[in-house]
This record gives sequence, structure tokens and C-alpha cells, in this order.
Amino acid sequence: PFILSIAGGGSTYTPGIVKSLMVRLHDFPLAEIRLYDIDEARQNTIAPVVEKVIRDHSQSIKFTVTSDPEVAFSGAHFVFAQMRVGQYKMREQDEKIPLRHGVVGQETCGPGGLAYGLRTILPMVELIDRVERYAHEKAWIVNYSNPAAIVAEGVRRLRPNARVLNICDMPVAAMRNMGAILGVDRHKLEVDYFGLNHFGWFTRVRVDGEDKLPELRKHIAKFGLLTEDAAKTDPQHSDPSWVKTWRNIKPIMDNFPEYLPNPYLQYYLMPNQIVEHQNPDYTRANEVMNGREKKLFAAAEEYQRSGILPDAFHVGVHGEFIVDVACSLAFNLRQRHLVMVENRGAITNLPYDAVVEVPAYITSEGPEPIRVGRVPLFHQTLLQQQLASEQLLVEATIEGSYEKALQAFTLNRTVPTMEHAKAILDEMIEANRDYWPAL
Ligand code: G6P
Ligand code: MN
Repeated sequence: PFILSIAGGGSTYTPGIVKSLMVRLHDFPLAEIRLYDIDEARQNTIAPVVEKVIRDHSQSIKFTVTSDPEVAFSGAHFVFAQMRVGQYKMREQDEKIPLRHGVVGQETCGPGGLAYGLRTILPMVELIDRVERYAHEKAWIVNYSNPAAIVAEGVRRLRPNARVLNICDMPVAAMRNMGAILGVDRHKLEVDYFGLNHFGWFTRVRVDGEDKLPELRKHIAKFGLLTEDAAKTDPQHSDPSWVKTWRNIKPIMDNFPEYLPNPYLQYYLMPNQIVEHQNPDYTRANEVMNGREKKLFAAAEEYQRSGILPDAFHVGVHGEFIVDVACSLAFNLRQRHLVMVENRGAITNLPYDAVVEVPAYITSEGPEPIRVGRVPLFHQTLLQQQLASEQLLVEATIEGSYEKALQAFTLNRTVPTMEHAKAILDEMIEANRDYWPAL
């Protein structure tokens, strides 16, 4: 049985992930679960809920809550990482500062994502070093930490040999919705996909070898990438703002009648429309703080008081996916999953060393990407520009370079002009004083 540590133990996602682990104990046996967080108070609030989830399934799994990296990682076989540097308070800044300049305000896309990247790369590397210092030598870090594309690129640059697998639940959430539309379980789908994280396209969706993308496109043309069924099994992604996100891919698909875009492409391809419908005083961070976070904290309090735990956290593809990936790593299952991986020629007309998101077989030594081949000029160009923006941001972080940060902001498709880029960057430097390396 494995020792598993969750870094970012105080996250609202922790109970859902642990619930998924409990459901899969036969596939992924556990001796111990450790929660690790630098925010002790927050983690201590969530921990009793997590303990209850564990005890409902097992009396024997050891449960440890700590803010000491040595306690957290000593001998660990797996680390699930989900850090949020600056927490939701800083996400709020990431979203609101660009909006004040008429630019998309989003957690991972546009200036918000770049700012979040500047906060996260170095702490992520510090976490990797701590894990490598204490954990089992073959330990894997499975990393959900956002902004995933930038974090993955930063890790590739600074710790190229680390055993870190960067993942995102967006493709698998899309597949869950596709399955609901087609009336098949998402595990029966085999998809082809290329791109960067939160920036890519599905090119085939096979069920028993038959491509169902044409059929899916008909449904999506009417309703977006959503069914009532899909909404029911994913309370998070069925919030009104998420429903809008799944619907909004319709115009992109209609205008570029090939493939199926990742919903996040709407931020890059229709930024004006997005900005028009965003409330600069109440963004997604506010929705999450007043919704998911508040609900979980209230439930934790209620549980402490009455011993009864209200239904307050999300169990779904997010937790299922990280457990699937861990199983494939642990037992060399070579399952096919969409993950972030160094390109190494998988997409022949993107740089060899770019971090891309493509299907890969997950072995115990890591992901083996599947060959994609050449992508069309239009997609290649969009990808190149986004990649350049993200790579410059990573270099800005490493070198403490204002110039490169400004270039990263300027190259981002959500940012209309260099003047916008500069004004937003300068405000963000102020807001991120406690977090960014000096630029
Ligand atoms: C998806 C993305 C994550 C992102 C999350 C935000 O799951 O894959 O990268 O963090 O959505 O959801 P939220 O409910 O916090 O807005
Ligand atoms: Mn994601």
C-alpha cells in the first residue's frame, strides 16, 4: 500500500479527491494519507471533513495533517499537488485588474494567468525540491496546480528531470460531457487532441473505433457541449458561469468547422464578447469564495458542532482523473490520457521542447506521447503565439525581467495593445508585491 501526500491539503478540492481515492482503494491501495499545507488554519478546517471521508471507508488508513515538509513527504510514493499561491484573494486580483482595462479577467487565460504563473513557478519548484529531498526515490508528483501550462513549462526549464506529471481536468470534463451527449461512459471514448493546456482542439472522438465527432458537432451546434446529465454529475462545472462557458464554444465551432475547441479558446478568440459579459466588480473568484468555499467551510463547522456532515463538496471527474492517472503510473497500466508532456516531435511543426497537451500512454516511468503529426497553419500559428507568451513569462520569472514580462503580456491574444499590456503589468506588480520575484 502507498503513502500519498496531498500538497495544498487545505484546498476545497481535497475532500473530493480523497473521496475518489476511497472509492478506488482496491485499485490503488493506501497505507497513509497526509495533508500538507503552508496555511495551517485553513488545512485544519478542512482536515476533519477529510478524516470523516476516510473513516467512512477505512479504519486502517493512517491520516496525518502537517505543515512540516519532512513529515509530509518522508517515504511518500505519490504526491498530489494543487497549490494556489495567494489563494482566492489573489485570483480576484488576477481577474479584476485586467477587467479594469477592458481585458479578459480569468484565472489561467490572459494577464490573470500570466500573473498567477509569476506567483507559482518558484514555489512549485521549491515543492519539488522538498519532495525530492524526503520522498521515495521513485515517487511521482501528479500536479494539478494552475496555471498548468506555465507551471509545466517552468518545471521543464528549472527541474527537467523531476518526476512530475502535469495534468488538467478540462479535457476529461469535456469527455464526460461528450459521453453524456452520446449516451456512453466517458471511459469508452478514445480521443485525439492537440494543443497547449487550456488551448487546444479535439480532432477525433472514437467509440469502438468509429469517429463520433460529426454527431457531436450536431448536438453542440444546438446546445453547446452540455447535457442535463453531464451537469448533474458535475456540480462545479454546472454553475451558471460554467454552463455559459460550455455553451460559448458553439460560435467558435460554427466559424471554424473543423475539430472541437477546448472551451477556454473563447477567451482568446472572442475576448470582446467575454469582457462585455464579465462584471468587473464580481468575478468568478467572488462566486467561488461565496459558493464552493463558503459552503465547505460552513459544512466543516456544522460537522464539528453536530457530528453530521452536510453534503458540501464536489465528487466527479476532477478526483476520478487524478486517481486514474496515479493508478497508471503506479502499475504501469499504459492507459491513454490527455496530459501535459514535452513535445519531442509529437506535433511535428511545434518546437521539440515545447510543453504540449496531447494523448499519452501513462507508464510507470512517465507519459509516452502519441504522435500527432503536423497541425494546420492556423492552429500552429495560434499555438506558437500562446507558447511564446508563456515561455517569455517563465523567462521573466527566472531572470526577474520586466521586459520579458511585458513581452509575454503583449503577445497574449487577449491583450489588444502594448499599452494595455504595460498598464496591466504595472498594476499587477503592485498587487503582487508579496508574491512575485522583483522585476
Ligand atoms: C477547470 C480547469 C481548472 C480550473 C477550474 C476553475 O476545472 O481545468 O484549471 O482551475 O476549472 O474552476 P472554478 O470553479 O474554480 O472557476
Ligand atoms: Mn485546468
